[in-house]
Amino acid sequence: MKEHCPPEPFALYPPCTLPDWDTKASVRTDRSPYTLPADLEHQLGERHWFVPDFMPYLDHPDIVLAGPSVVRRLEANQLVYFLDYTTVLEHKLVNRSVETLIHDELGVPVPCAVKTAALQLYTDEGYHALFSNQIAEQVAELYGIDNRSRPARRIRRLLERIQACSPADEAMVWFLIGFVSETIIAKELLSAVRLPLVSTVLRMFKSHLADEARHSRYFCDVFSHLWPLFDDCQRTLAATQLLAILEIFFESDTDWLKESLASVGLHPDTLEYITTRLQQPHAHQQRVRSGAKVTLQALFNAGFFNIAHNRHLFQNAGYIDA
Ligand SMILES: [Fe+2]
Ligand SMILES: [Fe+2]
Repeated sequence: MKEHCPPEPFALYPPCTLPDWDTKASVRTDRSPYTLPADLEHQLGERHWFVPDFMPYLDHPDIVLAGPSVVRRLEANQLVYFLDYTTVLEHKLVNRSVETLIHDELGVPVPCAVKTAALQLYTDEGYHALFSNQIAEQVAELYGIDNRSRPARRIRRLLERIQACSPADEAMVWFLIGFVSETIIAKELLSAVRLPLVSTVLRMFKSHLADEARHSRYFCDVFSHLWPLFDDCQRTLAATQLLAILEIFFESDTDWLKESLASVGLHPDTLEYITTRLQQPHAHQQRVRSGAKVTLQALFNAGFFNIAHNRHLFQNAGYIDA
């Protein structure tokens, strides 16, 4: 790969690296297996399986009335769903995205340092998939959760997006999926580590967050670095695709959520009420605005919104202010 690297006019740009990866990456530093704690039953008296903030439906009167054991089961369902989603996302989407940098698929010069960091990030994501899967398997077995074969709606919709584009556009769409994913995940994990979760789950989320905070900075830097190098066609494509990808990342997975709610015996009317509320356009728009703050800031910093068309596109979607 070395001989294909361009000369380094990139000293002017942000470093786009993962500093101290050898001593900080969780794949290098984690030493204990992610096994559920021996005092799990005791922990579940006060600790959660998953983040209640990500489950706004938990305050529905029928669920509150059903009591803590139903709430814990719904949290377990959501945790397994999130971890299964993460496992696929890391392997099949984020790592596919960094391949576009490592193997010069974007048609613009990528410095060696950026490629090295991309290879490190690729390794990180493989490990995240491993520990996510290890915990998902244990919790799924504990509760007999068996509706895990269908990929999350977000994954299906993103893969459809790739299938729908021309071969010439694929690399850009892959890159943007990684950019969006890597700039929103740290905020999701940050919310998780502030709560009393089951100890093994909390330790795993902390490890993941430490890596993702570095990945988020890396992808923000890389986007800022590449944006001026893209030609007009690439920029137009990127604007349209970014809008669509952001929309997909904050959609709710109605079919899965109905299955989860039905697993604790909730009435079909309650299922309908909860899922309909989550699909309201305003609720979706607010999720994008709040969840993608880092992504939107990175676009702003890179000069993406200096193009009037891009600004209008995102204003019309309600993702940024007029
Ligand atoms: Fe990750
Ligand atoms: Fe990552």
